[in-house]
Amino acid sequence: MSAPVSMKDYENSARKKLPKSVWVYYSTGADNEQTLSDNCNAFSRYRLRPRVLNDVSKVNLGSTVLGTPIDFPVCIAATGMHKMAHPMGEIAVVKAAESMKIGYMQSIWATTSIEDVTAAAPDAIRWFQLYIYKDREITKQLVKRAERLGYRGFFLSVDTPVFGVPYGLRTTFSLPPNLSYENFKDLDISDGLADGESKHDLAERVASMVNPSMQWSDIAWLKSITNLPIVLKGILTGEMAKRAVKENVDGILVSNHGARQFDGVPATIDVLREIVQAVDGKCEVYMDGGVRNGTDVIKAIAFGAKAVFIGRPVLWGLAHNGQEGVRHILEMLRVEFKTALQLIGNKEQSKNY
Ligand code: GLV
Repeated sequence: MSAPVSMKDYENSARKKLPKSVWVYYSTGADNEQTLSDNCNAFSRYRLRPRVLNDVSKVNLGSTVLGTPIDFPVCIAATGMHKMAHPMGEIAVVKAAESMKIGYMQSIWATTSIEDVTAAAPDAIRWFQLYIYKDREITKQLVKRAERLGYRGFFLSVDTPVFGVPYGLRTTFSLPPNLSYENFKDLDISDGLADGESKHDLAERVASMVNPSMQWSDIAWLKSITNLPIVLKGILTGEMAKRAVKENVDGILVSNHGARQFDGVPATIDVLREIVQAVDGKCEVYMDGGVRNGTDVIKAIAFGAKAVFIGRPVLWGLAHNGQEGVRHILEMLRVEFKTALQLIGNKEQSKNY
């Protein structure tokens, strides 16, 4: 196959390279996958209005997330179990992010520990995606470890009180036996071992637990145990965004979990403006879901996102050829975003296109 030159090429390559069960796990969405296709299609319903003759020889691509500068407003969303896509797994991804000076959100379901990710890419901008488990002590230990390792904030998933009804092989999915959920291996929960259960089994069990009783008061608890910024990941309405602001969160990630949780919810780009308006500048707003090229990025920025996050495209780059593939995906987006800014006639990413 000739070298990939588009997201579609990377996706096609990943489809061929990945074991079927892994491809299905990564690529599918909840139920009828209406929201899955809508996430991408919704972008194509918006039109851009170029401002001509505006000297775009220099454009400013940079942004900030939670106060940290990034070279362009595209960061890496948490996706699980990167070693299923490539032997270097999360390390390939974080190194690509580090080399491009953009942020990397590590999944709690990672197949590399936060310690190993940090050692491999100490200068990367790293955030950690969290759940609040029924046993809060588990979450607390993860928070404290991430703090010590220089993670810069937490993205708390608030859209997963339970897992969405089956997409792909989810119900029968289990991690290949040679891999494990590395972040749970060293938790101090050995008392939780059931008869005959190994630490490895325990890590799998804990990783797969989510907490249906999670509620707004848990946000205050999380804030009480860390001074690092907290972003709520998975907000889709203006009402919920206003509620989040009351908890003094630092940011909102407008996300439908890559359309993997709840089919029938809106495409994220379609609700971004409503959420930005509801928040009214009181915290930062980002989005993920369906971003595949530079014009998608510019549309999200135009609606008020500080940055967008990409999930599946990273997995396709990783599956194709590890760090190089992920870096190339990011480079394509950077060049496309720059070109889009120039063609729209905007030097400073101001909001009215
Ligand atoms: C986990 O959160 C997943 O979407 O697979």
